[in-house]
Amino acid sequence: MKTLILAGGSGTRLFPLSREHYPKQFIPLVDDESLFQKTVKRALLFSSPQEIAIVTNTDHRFLVRDQLAAIGCDCRVLVEPVGKNTLPAIYYGAREITRDGPDTVAVLPSDHLITAAGPFQDAFRRAERLSKDCLVAFGVRPTSPHTGYGYIRPGEPLEEGSLVDAFVEKPDLETAGRYVADGYLWNSGMFCFDAGLFLSECETCAPEVARAFEQPLEEAYNATPALSIDYGIMEKTRKAAVVPLECDWSDVGNFDALYAALQKNGSGNAVRGEHIGIDSSENLIIADRLVATVGVHDLAIVETKDAILVAARDEAQRVGEIAKALREKG
Ligand code: GDD
Ligand code: MG
Repeated sequence: MKTLILAGGSGTRLFPLSREHYPKQFIPLVDDESLFQKTVKRALLFSSPQEIAIVTNTDHRFLVRDQLAAIGCDCRVLVEPVGKNTLPAIYYGAREITRDGPDTVAVLPSDHLITAAGPFQDAFRRAERLSKDCLVAFGVRPTSPHTGYGYIRPGEPLEEGSLVDAFVEKPDLETAGRYVADGYLWNSGMFCFDAGLFLSECETCAPEVARAFEQPLEEAYNATPALSIDYGIMEKTRKAAVVPLECDWSDVGNFDALYAALQKNGSGNAVRGEHIGIDSSENLIIADRLVATVGVHDLAIVETKDAILVAARDEAQRVGEIAKALREKG
């Protein structure tokens, strides 16, 4: 199986760890490896290095090559002239990676944390069996009405997983609440399909993207609209299936999610670095220098070379507002 790894996005909710020129997927968040490097290692569970391609942008291509070299994986790097969201990235990648013949393609975002290799591999094995006839998504059982995810209503059961009855990308909070109560699944953002089927579904569901790619790469990227695979294909196609992903999965979308993913000490503090806590609990602390706290709880304290963030963990989603404030400040 071929694998495409999407590594062209930028996150703003992990400031000051992530910056525009150093997005979330390239940071060693939970240990010494970045989420991107962990994703490449996961891809190696079912693809050889020659069968893997990374799709990224001009700004991050050297970072990508450095991080690949650090884990000794010499795979192909496809550079987009400009980021137009995930559908053009996948279209470009799927076409390039299967030039030597038709094949099944796994699409992996590079900004996820998945700890158990076994269930991950198992889900892809099951998806591969459906991939000739269906565009396969991977469903995660929701734990909250998160509005940053796609929601999937599973339909008619198949031998592996089920058909998709409805796919709704990023609903509002009220709708998301209803979906959770009604047994919808979160879309994990990973996909598996036969490349030919994907390209032909693209002609049906997003013809403006398929048409743009009839031209050379630069022109294609100028002409294509910016569109995600979720809005462009998954909401529209009648050939979607879903396979459950039965393992811990996090997109580490903010510091609260990072806190949840890290190991906690006896006081419930998740610490990367050195911390002395007097009556301090359930904090996330990331710093190179010693951090001492007295009487503080449920905070995220994050220090880098040029910035310090102190935030209430339950408002961690609002850290994204800092990037906007910084841009306005100039
Ligand atoms: N090459 C390339 N070019 N990669 C991109 C681009 C682009 O223009 N835009 C985003 N990516 C990469 C990101 O780096 C990430 O690894 C992946 O594609 C997904 O993009 P996100 O921007 O992180 O998507 P999202 O998190 O808002 O939503 C998707 O993931 C959710 C789960 O985390 C959707 O698939 C949702 O339905 C899903 O629930
Ligand atoms: Mg994401």
